[in-house]
Amino acid sequence: SAIPVITIDGPTASGKGTVACRVAAVLGWHVLDSGALYRLTALTCIKRGIGIHQVGQIADAAAYLDVVFKGDEILMHGQDVTAAIRQEAVGEFASRVAALEPVRAALLARQREFRQAPGLVADGRDMGTVVFPDAHLKVFLIASARARAERRYKQLIEKGFSANIDEISRDLEARDARDSQRLHAPLTPAQDALRLDSSALDVDQTVNQVLDWYKDRT
Ligand code: C5P
Repeated sequence: SAIPVITIDGPTASGKGTVACRVAAVLGWHVLDSGALYRLTALTCIKRGIGIHQVGQIADAAAYLDVVFKGDEILMHGQDVTAAIRQEAVGEFASRVAALEPVRAALLARQREFRQAPGLVADGRDMGTVVFPDAHLKVFLIASARARAERRYKQLIEKGFSANIDEISRDLEARDARDSQRLHAPLTPAQDALRLDSSALDVDQTVNQVLDWYKDRT
């Protein structure tokens, strides 16, 4: 496809979502928060009492997600679930359902539908490796474990959730280990990805680096 894509992959809380939104805003492009699709699948399962071993039902939940991305809001069956999907318990279950191949297969076409003119910035774990292998620019965004735990802590507090930094650290580590070690679409940089360590950078600096790399390629 001629429609340009920038992919931003990386571990949990590396700043992918914030950077993707900002880069998309500057370029006037669409944005795909692929993690939200896994979180929505997880939330659906939690609500319906579907357990991690009920693979067929989880895949169905993924295939039939009734979701609308409306600006900053995410609506499922018309209900605002923007805050609900950010809970740690949902992220934790999301990383379990994300290890299931039928779930990933069910979400693949839906993710590719986000590729619309004039362009797309997509963030997740496998955007550059599996979903958009022909992306024009692939970024692998990393940050130290400490920086990521602090960012996630601030995010949760700002959203009105209670949070404990040690618990978050342990949770991030467990989630990253699961995402990196799984068989299907593990978290790993694409061969042609550029690595960006945001530990010592603020959001503007990180966004500008991505934009500079993109300009270099056009
Ligand atoms: O990025 P976020 O924390 O919202 O993603 C939640 C979970 O969804 C991740 O821990 C990961 O297991 C899964 N995920 C994935 N592939 C993606 C995006 C997210 O497996 N492209």
